Amino acid sequence: MSHLQGGTAVITGAAKGFGLKANRIAARLGMKVVMADVQADALARAQAEIEGLGAAVLPWRLDVSKADQVQAMADATLARFGVPHVVFNNAGVGAGGLIWEHTQADWEWVIGVNLMGVAHGVRIFTPLMLAEAARNPGYRGHLVNTASMAGLLNAPNMGVYNVTKHAVVSLSETLYQDLALVSDQVHAHVLCPFFVPTGISQSHRNRPADMAPVKPTKSQLIAQAMSDKAVSSGKVTAAQVAQFVFDAMAERRFYIYSHPKSLASVQVRLEDVMTPRNPTDPFAAKPEIGAELRRALRGA
Ligand SMILES: NC(=O)c1ccc[n+]([C@@H]2O[C@H](COP(=O)([O-])OP(=O)(O)OC[C@H]3O[C@@H](n4cnc5c(N)ncnc54)[C@H](O)[C@@H]3O)[C@@H](O)[C@H]2O)c1
Repeated sequence: MSHLQGGTAVITGAAKGFGLKANRIAARLGMKVVMADVQADALARAQAEIEGLGAAVLPWRLDVSKADQVQAMADATLARFGVPHVVFNNAGVGAGGLIWEHTQADWEWVIGVNLMGVAHGVRIFTPLMLAEAARNPGYRGHLVNTASMAGLLNAPNMGVYNVTKHAVVSLSETLYQDLALVSDQVHAHVLCPFFVPTGISQSHRNRPADMAPVKPTKSQLIAQAMSDKAVSSGKVTAAQVAQFVFDAMAERRFYIYSHPKSLASVQVRLEDVMTPRNPTDPFAAKPEIGAELRRALRGA
């Protein structure tokens, strides 16, 4: 029997992709779920599906980049279900292109959702979980933050996305170390997936009107096309990734990977850092892709 049986999971980005699949697993484990997402129509559909599995659901529409909205969701969670056992800070958005071509609104939107969304979740829920752990020796809590392989690599033309995901890895490793100082009952995990078919390459669907994009640049159009292709052709499924998250919680494993073979690129990057030598060409194994990208970016 899972140690999470009968517990409560708070999942952001719950309406689609990894978040929705994680809700399915939580429901099957007999957990109560707080489904938090910004997209109202997708959230309503997801809520109906998860309630159909017999789970008690608190649907919560919020923008995770807004501290007061995350606080309101936490207050509602406590009122309805009490202190959660799983907090999956998973909502995220993508934006690519050459790093200097992002607008200020691009930076604010992606940092707001991908980094501050996780920071608000950690800041608000960790003290509640630690207080519950102090009250109840049988309590076990898990904070899972979604980063990406982009948090361990720096592929070109992926702009601010890389920056935020590195920050989430840093935040999560720090959280792991800090928790180890104060508790044996609350655990941190970081999810670092490679390309997996979900709605991530269509993130602009949820971009706030007051942060509307200007006309995309050539590099941004190329990044969009590359991301559409890479995400849609991924072979590992979102359901498998969600299962990896629950497996890691059961095993108290911090790093959660969807494509362990892609760690070879992380090793190359760390060898760049350690040698030290200049960053290795990410297209060394597939030079035709690098050549095509350079041609497309340099062409008139
Ligand atoms: N799919 C991949 O290839 C991949 C790879 C690495 C990392 N990730 C990360 O996985 C996480 C989940 O994404 P996914 O791939 O399931 O994509 P997805 O688009 O299918 O799901 C993301 C969910 O987050 C929600 N969301 C977006 N902005 C939000 C906001 N401001 N507040 C609350 N909710 C918001 C969306 O409505 C959506 O339901 C993201 O952090 C993403 O960066 C995805």
